[in-house]
Amino acid sequence: MSEQAIVTGRPVSISGTGSYLPEKVLTNHDLEKLVETSDDWITTRTGIKERRIAAEGECTSDMATKAALRALEQAGIEGADLNLIIVATITPDTLTPATACYVQRKLGAMKAVAFDVSAACSGFLYAMEIAHSCIATGAFDNALIIGAEKLSAFINWQDRNTCVLFGDGSGAAVMRASPNGHRRVLASHLGTDGEQTELLNIPGGGAACPITLDNVERRLATLAMQGREVFKHAVTAMRQAAELAIAKAGLTIADINLVIPHQANLRIIQAISERLGVTEDQVFVNLHRYGNTSAAAVAIALDEANRSGAIKENDRVLLIAFGAGLTWASAVIEW
Ligand code: UT7
Repeated sequence: MSEQAIVTGRPVSISGTGSYLPEKVLTNHDLEKLVETSDDWITTRTGIKERRIAAEGECTSDMATKAALRALEQAGIEGADLNLIIVATITPDTLTPATACYVQRKLGAMKAVAFDVSAACSGFLYAMEIAHSCIATGAFDNALIIGAEKLSAFINWQDRNTCVLFGDGSGAAVMRASPNGHRRVLASHLGTDGEQTELLNIPGGGAACPITLDNVERRLATLAMQGREVFKHAVTAMRQAAELAIAKAGLTIADINLVIPHQANLRIIQAISERLGVTEDQVFVNLHRYGNTSAAAVAIALDEANRSGAIKENDRVLLIAFGAGLTWASAVIEW
């Protein structure tokens, strides 16, 4: 298990956010027709009511670009002015090149360095930390970070253990060196536990298990999860990550106005909220509408909280994520 602390340097802020959700809605009642499940089971066990599914031919880079354009517009900068693009995804358009390269082309951001980060549901906060470090040290002046997923392409639609949980979507943020210090990232914390790779993975389709007719038939290129185990790890790791980032920022939980957790399961969110000692109205939740969108989840929630006015000026916002790897991450932002 390895953990990492934030670098210091010049202040870095979030100068714009954006998100995109595909139009097609798949409800719990729709899923009742696909597998042996019920709206009641999904709602009580997860809190999810519906999720979005990408259109035919719509790929991760398309969704990433749409969220990015909204973030760029809010930040008041053009794609052509970007220095760095990081896409966090576990559902890339292609194994190579990186989805970030397609996004660079679609945005006309030809001066930017572009690459992907694979850290599952923690990916957007991993990207935030990398961008933060790159800007804080002066290596780059700005960065576009994106969490984007087309999980519907990697779901076994006959497996009720997983197919009811996930959805498609994207969220983005523009980060910049910030002389005035507004919307500043105060601290963050990342962690990884490679001892637990088997708990949540897509076993086929990589070099360890290349695509063959046989493993396609065995559906090895779809997401597999030991839900109950992942649940326990998620509660412990997210709580610890939250406490460490808050401490690094020199704050206590009483200083946090809004918590934006990874949107996997309402019961996980409730367990963490209880352990941290925050009330329900201090926690941003949208998983009932989108399900678990992996790397996109915290990014979409951050944008919705920003645009809806749930985040007020000078608020301290705590972001927390957890996912396959296992990976976890947290960040504290002063808005
Ligand atoms: O994003 C990365 C992080 N991911 C997460 O944090 C997900 C963490 N895990 C979870 O959210 C939960 O473990 C699940 C929602 C995946 C499952 O909830 P659970 O309360 O842990 O249920 P379970 O897996 O222990 O299954 C309980 C029962 C089983 O039946 P038996 O063995 O008790 O007869 C399952 O077969 O529920 C059954 N079940 C379902 N029943 C109806 C599992 N999936 C379904 C379903 N509909 N979709």
